[in-house]
Amino acid sequence: MQTESATLVTGATGYLGSLIVVGLLRETRAKVILPVRSHHTREGVLEKIRAAFAAEGQEAAPEDLARILTAELPAPGQYDRWIPFLEEQGVGEIVHSAGCLDYFDRQKLKEVNIDLTEDLIRVGKALGGSRFIYLSTAFSSGYTDGPIGERLHPEPASDPTEYTRSKREAEYLVAGSGLPFLIVRPSIVIGDSRDGHYDGKPFGIYQILGGYERLLTDRYLTSLHAVAPRMPLNLLHQDAFSAGFFAARRHLPSGSIFNLVSRQETLPTVRDLFELWMEISAHPEEVRFYPRLEEIPREAIDARQRMLIEFSEVNLAIAAHSWNFETGHLDRLRPHLPSYGDATLRSLRVCLERFAADSTRIQAFLKKYQDRFPQKTRIVEMGEVKTSLHQ
Ligand SMILES: NC(=O)c1ccc[n+]([C@@H]2O[C@H](COP(=O)([O-])OP(=O)(O)OC[C@H]3O[C@@H](n4cnc5c(N)ncnc54)[C@H](OP(=O)(O)O)[C@@H]3O)[C@@H](O)[C@H]2O)c1
Repeated sequence: MQTESATLVTGATGYLGSLIVVGLLRETRAKVILPVRSHHTREGVLEKIRAAFAAEGQEAAPEDLARILTAELPAPGQYDRWIPFLEEQGVGEIVHSAGCLDYFDRQKLKEVNIDLTEDLIRVGKALGGSRFIYLSTAFSSGYTDGPIGERLHPEPASDPTEYTRSKREAEYLVAGSGLPFLIVRPSIVIGDSRDGHYDGKPFGIYQILGGYERLLTDRYLTSLHAVAPRMPLNLLHQDAFSAGFFAARRHLPSGSIFNLVSRQETLPTVRDLFELWMEISAHPEEVRFYPRLEEIPREAIDARQRMLIEFSEVNLAIAAHSWNFETGHLDRLRPHLPSYGDATLRSLRVCLERFAADSTRIQAFLKKYQDRFPQKTRIVEMGEVKTSLHQ
């Protein structure tokens, strides 16, 4: 359903928020209000939106950019004073994509994921019941066994991080607000399925790739050590994120909670990710795969490799858990998504090759050490491979 009332979008200076703004400019003719923190300028915000268009080979039309209103985000608890301005602009929808993605900083997670969400719910109510779309995460269930439903989650036995706990709590606030709502839960967002371009910060697999780039490209390592189970890696391409988000916005009824993920059967595994990366960049003579992180002989391996393992531990632990997302909404939306780019081994390769091609450090490494690369990396399985990193 297209709405001509204005949409307020938080987090527009971020990765997914900017993709949402691009989609709104394409899909509607309405005004888009972007409250941003005081360190941003209007020109900086518009530049981010222009760049998101350009990354897709398009130019942002001046008349579309003119529909963007930027405003300074009020201080916490100061949102009431903002209401007359928003009423005047005819805001009928709030898309809340601002978030804190820190894994452990409880104070920041509370300020952004909880307190800001509460403030925006108050705004929605003061505006007479704006539709509230909340960007949560597919991992808000915490660690649970069995299918992960498209409903609010009960308290799990444990959480991978404080972040997932805070997102689950925010979902309860949104669903209990009395506002018409849609909760969208994307999995790990990676680059575009068609050309691999990635507009986000170094989160998820890009945190590991960025760590590799910084730590392991100044020398050639003949032997690498890793834990990489053959578990599906829950990736979602950024073009699939946009397509799924807008299909849900148009077609899902109020009160829906949507697991926005890729088709489970075609997902690459954590092992695939490692093996691809060996082939695209590292080219060691040998890789030793261990069933558990504890079994890697950390004191005996290269110090930088040890740092990379420690740095990637949380993401590897999340990736190694079995996440079984229910996809009832996505299955029903698929007829509206003819070119939905499910993540596959092939599309992951596109993203990894793009990352390597865009990295001057990796290109320099490939050039310098190519004569030492073996025809084929030897794979050594160190013991029985289990499905959990720590069990
Ligand atoms: N990226 C993923 O793979 C992924 C997957 C699932 C769910 N999500 C969810 O998607 C949302 C957006 O993630 P992202 O990847 O786009 O993150 P991002 O690029 O880091 O963007 C975060 C946005 O939130 C804003 N923000 C942070 N702290 C704020 C505060 N105290 N007050 C107001 N705004 C604040 C940032 O503004 P500044 O520019 O001022 O810092 C930025 O616009 C988050 O809610 C996240 O939980 C992301």
